Amino acid sequence: MEYRNVDFNADKNKQYEAVRKAIARKYSYSGDVDLFGPEESSAIPEDVEESQRKELVEKDHERLFQGDGKDKRIAAKSGSRKFVMEFYDVMSTVSGIMASRKKKLSSKELTWKPNESYQQSSATVKLEEGKDFIHTDVLPQLEDAILDLGCGTGELSAYLAELVGLKGYVIGVDPDFSRLQLAKETHRHVENLSFIEGNSNQFEGMGSEKFDIIFSNLVIHWVPDKSKAFRNMFDSLKVGGKISIQYSDIIPPFMATSYEVLNPEKYEKLSNMFHLAKRDDVDLLCARAGFDVVKSYYPKYTKDLFPSVESLLQWLVGTSHGVFDLRLVTQERVEQLLQKFGNPPFDFTENSFDCRLVAVKPRSQTL
Ligand SMILES: C[S@@+](CC[C@H](N)C(=O)[O-])C[C@H]1O[C@@H](n2cnc3c(N)ncnc32)[C@H](O)[C@@H]1O
Repeated sequence: MEYRNVDFNADKNKQYEAVRKAIARKYSYSGDVDLFGPEESSAIPEDVEESQRKELVEKDHERLFQGDGKDKRIAAKSGSRKFVMEFYDVMSTVSGIMASRKKKLSSKELTWKPNESYQQSSATVKLEEGKDFIHTDVLPQLEDAILDLGCGTGELSAYLAELVGLKGYVIGVDPDFSRLQLAKETHRHVENLSFIEGNSNQFEGMGSEKFDIIFSNLVIHWVPDKSKAFRNMFDSLKVGGKISIQYSDIIPPFMATSYEVLNPEKYEKLSNMFHLAKRDDVDLLCARAGFDVVKSYYPKYTKDLFPSVESLLQWLVGTSHGVFDLRLVTQERVEQLLQKFGNPPFDFTENSFDCRLVAVKPRSQTL
């Protein structure tokens, strides 16, 4: 206990002075120790709720550090030992908050690479949802030829490759070179899987009419020219082939809130990365490209689970290709976020904002 050095038999002002000095030392306060401390002492009663306690401490913080500069020495209200101890605890908490507010995140966290962060998040947060989509709406058959448009780090491409067997194959394309490199390294032993740089305007097999299925998971909301993307997919499918795509039609609320609180300086840039369109409009663009839309719906819910603040941060860095800036995330901002989300684990299970669309290239075209 830090107040072991306080002489409780001493004059009350001396006791407080000892506490002030101990706290000032602990938090490397560089100003005048005589002026360090609240104008009035404020013992917090023991029976207050945890949340209320925090509020009281916050109030003390305001008074402590944003006061009007008058004499901030303690008015000795009570000579009791308990009172001095409480004073120490309040000061300690308040000063701790002060110290942590300025703290940036640790250097370990700052060194996350966007592609690796993405891969980890992709393998944990979204994998099950992707697999569920595959078994509900993609339904690959043995020997199918599949294009995975916007494959990221390729976790679902590899899963599809397994499902189509060695007589089938999967080609994953993505414009993010570093994600693609990681996909190649990670899945290099999968024989019927290849990764080639490309995007919805320019990809391996475009116009070839060779694919049975074009799968695209959580990509179309990044694509500015969706009409062109649908036309390109249409031209690349066998007659009777299908597209199975899943996309978001809003920025997931937990992400919008995280951007706003943790990266307000980058909020606009982060939001503008999305090219959102309403589900009805996407269906229309798809039909205009010549497809028969056979299914378009919202699954019941979207599940995004994060065991810790770090895993959420990793997701934000990874999914934004590194635009989300960890250097702007101070402890104070994390605390603000926790006030909104509660403590981890975070379960952002919400009514779904991911749309699923299945459309077929018809045998007789009526264009
Ligand atoms: C949320 S990730 C999804 C990755 C993968 N489909 C999955 O489910 O794990 C979206 C991917 O779309 C890619 N992307 C962005 N714009 C694209 C475009 N115009 N054409 C193809 N892919 C694109 C990004 O590079 C990113 O890897």
